[in-house]
Amino acid sequence: MIRLDYALAMDAGSGSGLTDSQLDAEAAAFERGCRRVLAEAEAGRLGFWGLPQDVAMAREITEFSEGLSGIDDVLVIGIGGSSLGGRAVTDAIGGPPALRRGRRVHFVDNCDPWTLAGLLEALEPASTLAIGISKSGGTVETAAQILIVREWLRNAGVALESNLVFVTDPESGSLRELADAEKLRTFAIPSSVGGRFSVLTPVGLLPAALCGVDVGAMLSGAAKMAERCAKPKLSENPAGLLAAIHVLHDRLHGRNLHVLMPYADGLRSFAAWFVQLWAESLGKRVDRQGRMVESGPTPIPSVGATDQHAQVQLFMEGPRDKLITFVAVADRGRELTIPTEQGAYEYLGGHGLAELLDYERRATALALAKDGRPSLEITLPALDAESLGGLFFLFEAATAFAGELYGIDAFDQPGVELGKRLAYGLLGRKGHEDAGEEVRALETAKPSRYRV
Ligand code: PA5
Repeated sequence: MIRLDYALAMDAGSGSGLTDSQLDAEAAAFERGCRRVLAEAEAGRLGFWGLPQDVAMAREITEFSEGLSGIDDVLVIGIGGSSLGGRAVTDAIGGPPALRRGRRVHFVDNCDPWTLAGLLEALEPASTLAIGISKSGGTVETAAQILIVREWLRNAGVALESNLVFVTDPESGSLRELADAEKLRTFAIPSSVGGRFSVLTPVGLLPAALCGVDVGAMLSGAAKMAERCAKPKLSENPAGLLAAIHVLHDRLHGRNLHVLMPYADGLRSFAAWFVQLWAESLGKRVDRQGRMVESGPTPIPSVGATDQHAQVQLFMEGPRDKLITFVAVADRGRELTIPTEQGAYEYLGGHGLAELLDYERRATALALAKDGRPSLEITLPALDAESLGGLFFLFEAATAFAGELYGIDAFDQPGVELGKRLAYGLLGRKGHEDAGEEVRALETAKPSRYRV
C-alpha cells in the first residue's frame, strides 16, 4: 500500500511545521471540500474520479496494442496534459532504458523541429505508429506536428488507417473531424476529464500499453487509492492530508515552493507531470467568488540523489519557503552490491546501490528537519503499474482538494488563453485579425532603448 508519512511536516517532527491543532482546524473545511468534489464526481462533472472503474477502456486499449503488428516505434504527438502523463508512465515502468525491448516510444511535445526532424530522419514510416493526442483538437503545436507527420507517412506510401491514430474528445474538435474525414482509428478522452487529469485515459494508457505496461493493473491501483481518497475525515484521507499540509504550510508559513523529490530515476518524468498538474490547477488570479487573489504555489521538480548535488544546498540554507515531498520506493526489484575494497572505500563494501539511495533520502530529510525545514514522505511498495496508478490518483485527488482549500477553481486555465490568442494573431489565423493588431501594438509599445 502507498504510505504517506507526514511526521517531519509537523512541529513535533521538524520544530517548524504544523501543530496538531492547526491541522485539526482544517478538517471541517476539508470535509466540505471533499464532499463537494465527490458530489461533482457523482454528477459526472469531474470525470477523472471515475476513470479507475473504466475497465472497458482498459480492455479496448489492451486489445488494440496486442493486435498491433509490424510496429517498432511509437511517435506520441501531444503537449501538456496530452503528453506528460504518458511520458511519466513509460519512463517509470517501461523498464530501464538500456533494457527496453519491444517498441520504442518517442514523445514529441514541443514544436521544436530539432526533435521532430531528427525523429523523422531516423524512423521508418512503415513500422511507426503515430498517435496524435489533443483533447480540444485545437492546440497549435500538436496540430502543426500532426500535419507534418501525416504528410511524412503519406509521402512514404504508408496507409494512414494503419499507422495514424488519434486520441481526442469523443464528439467535437478539429482532430475528431480529421479522424472522421480520414477514417482513422480514435480513442476517446471523456469530455468531463481535463487535460492534466487525463493520464488514466488513453492519453496515458495507450502509450503505456504499447510498451507492455499492464494498464488494467494501473487502473486497479488507482481504484484502491480512489477509495482511500473518498474518506471525508481528513486524518484518514491521504490526498486530503497531502493537500491540507501543502496549503497550510503556504498559508501559515509562506512555504509556497513545493518540491517533489522522488529518489528514483524512473520517477523523473512523474515530477514533471506533477509540476504541470499543481501549477496549472492552483495558480489562479481570482477565487471562486471572483475576488482577486493572484495566488498559487510554485512546484519544483527534483530527483534524489542527483539533485542533492544541485539543489539541496539551497533547500538546506536558502529561504525557508519550501516544503519538500520525498518519494521512496520500497522494493526496487533489482539491486547492485558494492564490492568490498580495503582502504578509503571500505565502508561501502557489501551495501547495495538501492540501499545507498534510501540512506541518502533519509539522511537528507533528517538534516533538513534538524534545521527546522519540513518535508513529507510518500513510499511506494514498488515501481510497478499498480503503485503508479495509485500515485497518479493520489496527486490528482490532492490537487482537487487543494483547489477546494485555496477556494479556487482547479480545473480551468484561463491564464494561458491570451498568449494563445496573440500567437494566432501572429500566425494570421482567420478570425484573429484583432489579435494580430494587438501584437503589433504591444511590440511597438515595447521601448527599444533597452537592447544591447
Ligand atoms: O491541462 C490542460 O488542460 C492543458 O495542459 C492541456 O492538456 C494542453 O494545453 C493540451 O491541450 P489539448 O489536449 O487540447 O491539445
